[in-house]
Amino acid sequence: MPDVIIKMEELSKTFISKDRKGLRSKKREVQALKGVNLEIYDGEIFGLLGPNGAGKTTLIKCLTTLLIPTSGTAWVNGYNILTHENMVRASIGCMLMGERGLYWKLTGRENLDYFGALYHVPKPARRKRIEELSTLLSLGDYLERSVETYSSGQKMLLAFAKALINDAPVLFLDEPTVTMDVPTARKLRKIVRDLNEEGHTIFYTTHLMLEAEELCHRVAIIDRGGVIELGTPQELKSSLVTEEVITLEGVIQENVVQNLREIPGVKSATIKSESKGRTTLAVICDDSRQLLPRIIETMVGNGATVDFIKPHEVTLEDVFIARTGRSLGVDTRVVAQKEG
Ligand SMILES: Nc1ncnc2c1ncn2[C@@H]1O[C@H](COP(=O)(O)OP(=O)(O)OP(=O)(O)O)[C@@H](O)[C@H]1O
Ligand SMILES: [Mg+2]
Repeated sequence: MPDVIIKMEELSKTFISKDRKGLRSKKREVQALKGVNLEIYDGEIFGLLGPNGAGKTTLIKCLTTLLIPTSGTAWVNGYNILTHENMVRASIGCMLMGERGLYWKLTGRENLDYFGALYHVPKPARRKRIEELSTLLSLGDYLERSVETYSSGQKMLLAFAKALINDAPVLFLDEPTVTMDVPTARKLRKIVRDLNEEGHTIFYTTHLMLEAEELCHRVAIIDRGGVIELGTPQELKSSLVTEEVITLEGVIQENVVQNLREIPGVKSATIKSESKGRTTLAVICDDSRQLLPRIIETMVGNGATVDFIKPHEVTLEDVFIARTGRSLGVDTRVVAQKEG
């Protein structure tokens, strides 16, 4: 059995916020985390995959002691997040999305030096580390410019460097490739793999299933604050192995989607995206070859126009669709509002 380096026990977080409508305001509770139990193994890249609003950032904030959970607890590197928060912080590196915690008036180098000092990295070691990171991430001459002049991709890279400044054994990365261009994102993933080979444990959140599939040893799928699937990408996909997925595109009305769901053998029919009157649909079924004629007949017979049909292999996104009836691209908060 591998050693457990992060352990969560019934971790829950409820936010209370105020909805304002004109002069009236109403208290609203959001259960961002609902009793999460997870164990992360020493030396793995662990992926937390979920749509917008699923609770990924909240979970990272609880584990990195930036938020206190409403109930439940967790241990990072053997230290409890509630009773030994300083020890937790000293043993982790963290890159949060949104609040990247950089000082805009300082240069990149000054930022890294400051955060290195916060982590008690001695001055000569700090200087050496900054040089190493500058080379590793190709930070280039913008390291000497104030952060307010950076592009968003450059800020992300500096935030990544900041997470690495204390060479901590555990790294928390919250959607680190968002706003990075494709080559930079690819480079970041390569560095994450290299750091992992050197022995770092990585806790990585993403809403991109390809990223989770490519990078992570194990993946937990989180939806509305709860973990709904856990395993290696292969295990998750093979949970649907007897099922097949057909992608259909065209002008497809909502009632047609309902008609599809009624065909025996169709497990689910879910709208993946809609734009400019075109709909992309994912149909999960037992035997696509046998069902395809019936599917097309039902669609065309009910007034839909189909111009693209492709049966394909199961992806992590399909696992998510099969479990939730929604696609990863759908914002959970919008769904919750509609339902509420
Ligand atoms: N400070 C807060 N006050 C009230 N509600 C909050 C607060 N922070 C988060 N939430 C709510 O908690 C839920 C989970 O949010 P969280 O930021 O953890 O999601 P996420 O998975 O990181 O989403 P994203 O992919 O968009 O970053 C959402 O419904 C969000 O609106
Ligand atoms: Mg987030």
